[in-house]
Amino acid sequence: MVDIHCHILPGFDDGADNFEEALRMARIAAGGGTKAIIVTPHSNIPDSYQNYLDKLYVDAFKRLKALIKERNIPLKIYPGHEIFATDDLIEPIKRKRLLTLCNSDYPLVEFGFRERSESVYRKLQLLVAEGLTPIVAHPERYAFVSENGSAPMTLKKMGCLLQVNKGSLKKSFGSTAYAVSQALIINEVADFVASDAHSPYMRTPYLADVHEIISELHSKQYADLLLSTNPEKVLKNEKIK
Ligand SMILES: [Fe+2]
Repeated sequence: MVDIHCHILPGFDDGADNFEEALRMARIAAGGGTKAIIVTPHSNIPDSYQNYLDKLYVDAFKRLKALIKERNIPLKIYPGHEIFATDDLIEPIKRKRLLTLCNSDYPLVEFGFRERSESVYRKLQLLVAEGLTPIVAHPERYAFVSENGSAPMTLKKMGCLLQVNKGSLKKSFGSTAYAVSQALIINEVADFVASDAHSPYMRTPYLADVHEIISELHSKQYADLLLSTNPEKVLKNEKIK
């Protein structure tokens, strides 16, 4: 499997606190059948995690990669950001101050949990108009989705893809996110499932259990599509239908 959303890069956000914790996360991921992780620290959040690409990021990424190799953990890592959507993303993405997933045409974007749909659609439209394919992080956690059953299809018709969180399918984010995430799987609307892991203790990057959950809810083929096939295409910057 390939995990396209994971806060494993230490010291940038509320994810891994230090390199030892990041390595524990790497071991947990590998032990659950994950062969690659795109690291996605929060970025561009006003008055919070800014995290534009800089030397600190590059150095931390290289160090984590070297440590994973040194400890013989069978896991690859690739660069990325979880980008908090604002109206001015194009320039920083073009200048690579904000990273798409593995330098592909797929930016991983998040929103305020109570952000209004008009604001969400406007910001996404700006990205789509630039030829990018935004991947909406955890749509099941947003009010504009849980309060409007047609929102997921509106996002997809706009040209976006949807990434459901492992934790939502495990009921970690309450009954609403649980119900919406189940519906996204059962109705084949989801395009990815990722860990959105923040630590080796809670919200871990272990994906084997959620592969089982999706297999039971829908099918093994769909679990493979969401956790392996589509994420692989992101790594190769290939089109996803
Ligand atoms: Fe996240």
